[in-house]
Amino acid sequence: MRIDVVTIFPDYLAPLQLSLIGRAQRDGLLGVHVHDLRDWTHDRHRTVDDTPYGGGAGMVMRPEPWGEALDEVCGSLPGRTPHLVFPGPGGDLFTQQTARELATQEDWLIFACGRYEGIDERVYEEFAARYRLSVLSLGDYVLNGGEVAVLAMTEAVARLVPGVIGNAESLVEESHTGGLLEYPVYTKPPQWRGRKVPDVLLSGHHGQIAAWRHEQRLERTASRRPDLMGGRDGRT
Ligand code: ADE
Repeated sequence: MRIDVVTIFPDYLAPLQLSLIGRAQRDGLLGVHVHDLRDWTHDRHRTVDDTPYGGGAGMVMRPEPWGEALDEVCGSLPGRTPHLVFPGPGGDLFTQQTARELATQEDWLIFACGRYEGIDERVYEEFAARYRLSVLSLGDYVLNGGEVAVLAMTEAVARLVPGVIGNAESLVEESHTGGLLEYPVYTKPPQWRGRKVPDVLLSGHHGQIAAWRHEQRLERTASRRPDLMGGRDGRT
């Protein structure tokens, strides 16, 4: 999978060179390319923003640098068509299902990171007319810009690309798979500060362990995230 990020703070994306995502790049499973939006400005101050028409607080990102940047980045792989993602608090909620869809249905994502009060609306119109385009929100809170959201979304998507996670089984039972949170996990020692590992996990009965874990997932989800339970009541 190829991922491009256009931002005015390329250094914000440096963590994408670390850990599993960094290794996936070195292994050739993933290509991450970060671009500085200011490279598509033409004035001495490399200006990317201006005051909003109609008045109001803050600054709005000008359409010209975004237009030139996205024209060039979107056209940089002949024969391939990207899916554009604009992170923003006004977008559709980014969920595990979104991550799964992007990981399995797309092979090229371009993230466009807005700052200030946002990007001139005509940029969305222009590129939605030419490409698949999503505005995606991490949650109901406001960040200073899209960069942190891109770190989160890239990690959530990239780890679902086959080969990125060594042990594919660890993807099967994790939180949000099957709409439930993950069961609690324990390791050695069997007793720590007077707290014991549940007996069933030491029993060696695989059937009982699986049943206990399923029950824990239901109970946890019912108490912490009842919104995920749908018709289930946590007791069945
Ligand atoms: N940019 C600012 N706030 C955001 C959010 N909640 N999700 C995604 N991008 C954002």
